Amino acid sequence: MRILTVSDFDIALAAEALRSGRLVAFPTETVYGLGADGFNPAALARVFEVKNRPRFDPLIIHIARVEGLELAADLELLEGEARRKTDLLCEKLWPGPLTLILPKRREIPELATAGLATVAVRLPDHPAAQKLIALSTGAVAAPSANPFGRLSPTRAEHVRDQLGDRVDLILDGGRTRVGVESTVLDMTGPSPRILRPGGVPQERIEALIGPVAPPQETEGPVNAPGQLKSHYAPRTPLTLYEKDAMIALDFDPRGACLFFDGASRDRWLQGQRDLPGSGPFPGIRVLSEEGNTTEAAANLFDTLHELDRLGFSRIRAEEAPPSGLGPAINDRLCKAAARE
Ligand code: TXA
Ligand code: MG
Repeated sequence: MRILTVSDFDIALAAEALRSGRLVAFPTETVYGLGADGFNPAALARVFEVKNRPRFDPLIIHIARVEGLELAADLELLEGEARRKTDLLCEKLWPGPLTLILPKRREIPELATAGLATVAVRLPDHPAAQKLIALSTGAVAAPSANPFGRLSPTRAEHVRDQLGDRVDLILDGGRTRVGVESTVLDMTGPSPRILRPGGVPQERIEALIGPVAPPQETEGPVNAPGQLKSHYAPRTPLTLYEKDAMIALDFDPRGACLFFDGASRDRWLQGQRDLPGSGPFPGIRVLSEEGNTTEAAANLFDTLHELDRLGFSRIRAEEAPPSGLGPAINDRLCKAAARE
């Protein structure tokens, strides 16, 4: 595995590697993706192998510009209202952390979409990602660049540490800006439905196209595997608490505490009578001092990776509020907590 920069020269090299069927991890605004040429079944098969990802879990096709949508999706198959809403979302929210589920074009191999008649498409808001995709075939399949079920990577080092030589190249673009994966929105049903909360808040989508259906709890075989219960998990067992329950917890020298905001941490500290000496205490982290969900999302995986390395016996995490990127954060924390 080689780590490259995001210079034009290195991106051109990486694009060449993609075209010859190799795997390239690259930064997007959300998390690092493990890229493969979206038209190359052998490369797609390797993505599943490298991630140890079940074949029933379809990949997102990444494009470099809105016009590239036609490479992967057939918008003619959408009925009028859905078509109009799709056009509006592409115009207003792309590039950005929104993935649209649309009718699939035949040219995209079945492997990419796990045999579904639909395809997930996204235009990332990241210059290196856009250049890489534009210089390759224009359609790059990329799941998050982590082993299946583990924490998503927000830095090149996370990819290196988790995938090592199983990936050919990593483009190092530094820390990702949004920090949680894209919102996945299904446009092919009777009304648009969020399959995975993510980097674009539901409120933002609804302001453009009206009400959307929330994520559905699914049992058994999944149609959108972001919905698998255990996912995004640190190695350290994690428990999720509502604010008041979190503040009422006792100090545990071997446990880490991940607070949503500074106010919760301060209230918790005030309630502790038996703290050894004075702070700072090693495992206390805050996702956003001011309680801003966008900032908290950007810090989420990064902080979990860090706490995971420090070897605590457990991580106790506070729920985020239910607005803005709060639902995306809670979705990831819930899945991190649900270890089977
Ligand atoms: O932000 C992101 O979306 C990142 C970056 C790399 O772009 N990618 C990412 O990919 O999170 P991945 O594979 O980890 O998650 C893709 C999600 C999964 O939950 C998958 O089930 C869903 O999208 N998905 C893909 N194709 C689908 C389809 N045709 N129908 C329903 N869900 C689909
Ligand atoms: Mg993933």
